[in-house]
Amino acid sequence: MFVAGPTEKIVLGHDFLAGQEHAPDQLLSERERARLLAAGKELFLARCARCHDERGDKPLKTGPPLNERRLSSEQIARAVSGRLRDKTEEERRAVTLYISSLIKAKDSEEKATPKP
Ligand code: HEC
Repeated sequence: MFVAGPTEKIVLGHDFLAGQEHAPDQLLSERERARLLAAGKELFLARCARCHDERGDKPLKTGPPLNERRLSSEQIARAVSGRLRDKTEEERRAVTLYISSLIKAKDSEEKATPKP
């Protein structure tokens, strides 16, 4: 599904935060993406899962669980930088990617069912 090629480069930092339209993960090679996802998951489990659960599907007092919120990468990145100020840019990026993977998984499921 993914053709390994010369797209090994990661777009870091400001490019990522400024990137409005493109899904940032499309710029990643599969290997890089897997590495970031694993790192993001680890951090998410350590710092976020007590409120959100591993898959982001724990109901929240203020509304639907994380994985059912229609959050853009920018919205996620903002929440992540607020919560993980002590982490590096790459670590925040990894968590953002992990969260968007939770949300996307939900999205593709929902494609089968019509919108309300
Ligand atoms: C103490 C419990 C708690 C922890 C720990 C926690 N969250 Fe949350 N998070 C919440 C609650 C509650 C909401 C819903 C807030 C709302 O609806 O405004 C939320 C909402 C969010 C949202 C959605 C924001 C939106 O605009 O809808 C994101 C993204 C998020 N959290 C990311 C994280 C990340 C990343 C971490 C770990 C670094 C984390 N959270 C840790 C309780 C927590």
